Amino acid sequence: MRPINQQVVLVTGASSGIGEATAIRLRQRGFIVYAAARRTARMRHLLGLGIHVLALDVTDDASLKQALQVIMQQQKRLDILINNAGFGTYGAIEEVPLADGRRQFDVNVFGAVRLIQLVLPIMRCQRSGRIINTSSIAAKVYEPLSGWYMGTKHALEGISDSLRTEVAAFGIDVVMIEPGATNSQWAGIAKQALLRDSGSGAYQKLVWEVAAQLDLFAKVGSAPTTIADLMERAATARRPRTRYVGGFGSKTALFARRLLSDRQFDAAVALILGLGYRYYQRRKS
Ligand SMILES: NC(=O)c1ccc[n+]([C@@H]2O[C@H](COP(=O)([O-])OP(=O)(O)OC[C@H]3O[C@@H](n4cnc5c(N)ncnc54)[C@H](OP(=O)(O)O)[C@@H]3O)[C@@H](O)[C@H]2O)c1
Repeated sequence: MRPINQQVVLVTGASSGIGEATAIRLRQRGFIVYAAARRTARMRHLLGLGIHVLALDVTDDASLKQALQVIMQQQKRLDILINNAGFGTYGAIEEVPLADGRRQFDVNVFGAVRLIQLVLPIMRCQRSGRIINTSSIAAKVYEPLSGWYMGTKHALEGISDSLRTEVAAFGIDVVMIEPGATNSQWAGIAKQALLRDSGSGAYQKLVWEVAAQLDLFAKVGSAPTTIADLMERAATARRPRTRYVGGFGSKTALFARRLLSDRQFDAAVALILGLGYRYYQRRKS
């Protein structure tokens, strides 16, 4: 492995939350870091930390190519890609318009894969590289009204596992990060979608329960730096694990999923959502 201070990292979704914390952490470790997102104004403060800032929309092919061109012109290499940009389209499967579902896959899956397709020729040429994809425990456990989001994380996991076996021979590693509830802008965006698409339909009771859970998660969720710890381990390990799990509730949820049958897990989810909703109502009153 090259010394850390000669390794170039691209972090997408770096204008807030996990991506921002990761860009800062990796810069502190000495990496040459490129932070990318659409809202460049929110990343201005990163410049002062020695982080390069790039405008990037993962759904826009020209913007992806332009960002990589800048990195290659300036650094002549790219060692680590952190595919972290993403958001949650919550709402009933019946009610979320297909266009919104497609948009969810465009950002969380196709955006990540397109970037992977563009960096692989660079990494194959170098005969080294690491691709770190931000998945979620949503790829392993489930709850109602989150099917589109969970679908994207399941897809990303399947693609990542297959990709790992494709590119290992070129010296390229593929790693997944599986965060639990994390305190970022994610929950607010998911709740907004939930209320917009399902707030007044047939799924009311579930909507209020899931909305309360999103509010609670935003409060009790782990700090994004907890997930930045995992990113740092994935970026610096000589032989990284294929998956890193961490953050609020992640290990308990995965343990319960392994232990319980599907029907038992369904019942546990319903119970937790109901209890969470009542707890949240009591705290509010
Ligand atoms: N928070 C959680 O509880 C949690 C749990 C498990 C997994 N995750 C995953 O962790 C990742 C980061 O989420 P977060 O919690 O840090 O949420 P966040 O604070 O909302 O950050 C999401 C980031 O994604 C970027 N993004 C969204 N759409 C984009 C697009 N089209 N092009 C480029 N960038 C885009 C946003 O930047 P711009 O809007 O400026 O472009 C922002 O920087 C996501 O993949 C999420 O699914 C989060």
